[in-house]
Amino acid sequence: MQALATDTPVAVIGAGAMGSGIAQVAAQAGHRVFLHDQREGAAEAGREGIAKQLQRRVDKGKMEQSALDALLDRIKPIKELSELAEAGLVIEAIVEDLDIKRSLLTNLEDMCGEKAILATNTSSISVTALGANMKHPARLVGMHFFNPAPLMALVEVIKGLATSDEVAQCVYATAAQWGKKPVTATSTPGFIVNRVARPFYAESLRLLQEQAADSATLDAIVREAGGFRMGPFELTDLIGHDVNYAVTSSVFNSYYQDTRFLPSLVQKELVEAGRLGRKSGQGFYSYAEGAQKPEPATAVSASSDADTLIVEGNPGPLAALVARLSESGLKIIERDGPGRLQFGEAALALTDGRMATERAAAEACNNLVLLDLAFDYAKASRLAIAAADQASSQAINDACALLQKAGIAVSQVADRPGLVIMRTVATLVNEAADAFLHGVASVSDIDLAMKAGLNYPEGPLRWSDNLGCSLVHRVLTHIQQSYGEDRYRPALLLRKNRFAEKGFYS
Ligand code: NAI
Repeated sequence: MQALATDTPVAVIGAGAMGSGIAQVAAQAGHRVFLHDQREGAAEAGREGIAKQLQRRVDKGKMEQSALDALLDRIKPIKELSELAEAGLVIEAIVEDLDIKRSLLTNLEDMCGEKAILATNTSSISVTALGANMKHPARLVGMHFFNPAPLMALVEVIKGLATSDEVAQCVYATAAQWGKKPVTATSTPGFIVNRVARPFYAESLRLLQEQAADSATLDAIVREAGGFRMGPFELTDLIGHDVNYAVTSSVFNSYYQDTRFLPSLVQKELVEAGRLGRKSGQGFYSYAEGAQKPEPATAVSASSDADTLIVEGNPGPLAALVARLSESGLKIIERDGPGRLQFGEAALALTDGRMATERAAAEACNNLVLLDLAFDYAKASRLAIAAADQASSQAINDACALLQKAGIAVSQVADRPGLVIMRTVATLVNEAADAFLHGVASVSDIDLAMKAGLNYPEGPLRWSDNLGCSLVHRVLTHIQQSYGEDRYRPALLLRKNRFAEKGFYS
């Protein structure tokens, strides 16, 4: 199906943060755009906002003044809906309210030509429900942009039960023509991104509640070991805790209180206190004038008498860390064993979802120090470790000294199942695997959505394939056993892939 022709006008209803951004994107792609808002002067203000934004590009020499003038000429604020009759695509970005959106959509059906596509930018309302009282729900589709729309590449194209394939394909092709990265999803709560991303926030909030580490330390681990652009606490401070908590609660309730999506009491209290993040001047961090962001907890430089790393058996994903240590000049000896690293008194192993204390007892290895997952051990500048209660202080010291030899900052966190990155990644994979199982989107679209929508360093399903579904399944099984909670039940497809010895892409 072809994209909307550039000479076909587009209409945008609602000239707030999202509507103005979408109008800009459509105008930049060459369409004439009708912009409407029920609030007096809002459409004009939306157009002026676009002008101001783009004037900065002109001033920096990144855009011609004539191009800006032509673009602004194409955006026409309109007072009455009847003025958008010629539009071939109408995108609504009005208030997030089912009844108000429904009433607008039925009005639009009467105003627009028969062939016009009606799109909704809703982030949480079912497209199926929005179309239920339309005369022709086949022409309604979700076109979910991310904020800010001119900058964020992802567009989720959402098919309701009645949405026609042609309409979804046309909007997909149009988004691609507008320079976006579209993905297709079914109309299920949270679509792709707002569903699959929940564990990114939830697991760190839970680790904070369980006093595994403070927020600055967890943020630093997520950024510097996980390869994520922002940590969960700095990101939710930016998004606003009211917004993030509302999305979590909406997804939780929409999935009939599945504990996978359980909201956090820690975040609830911030909302109740009015500590909404940057916009209120205080969230997890203070944004008051002159406020300093707290430093992450980092182990002081440790000394150790050990000079040789003994690699006992196959170290799995830690092989890249061993290679890095070898490059730093450390002597390495290989011998048979259970896949652990021995350095001085420390026995180091990649977390498998059990607490270090439990695993030390099970493996009769008192000096066990668990290492967290890193997105790329060759580049990580920080790594989390957790020591068994039975471990000697010398063993912990030796573990720190080993990592510091490779220039890696060490954050020791309290002994909790799965540490930080392994636990975050495993639960993200779990959610992504179920989204795929339930037909929400394809494997590649789920991964693309998480990368283009949230800048994740890797799509969760590709990440799972890189680690091996068997390892991810084992980690989740252990975390589930540790807590005795349904929240960590491993996804069916992880279990199946483990037995088939395959991945999501193979
Ligand atoms: P906003 O509050 O900035 O703008 C909404 C605009 O719609 C306001 O200017 C309001 O006057 C206007 N409006 C309300 N009812 C109207 C009606 N019946 N007819 C015409 N205009 C009407 O809201 P925002 O953030 O732009 O959100 C708009 C939509 O986009 C919502 O559905 C929201 O869930 C969705 N969305 C928001 C994102 C965000 O990060 N803010 C991201 C993706 C989607």
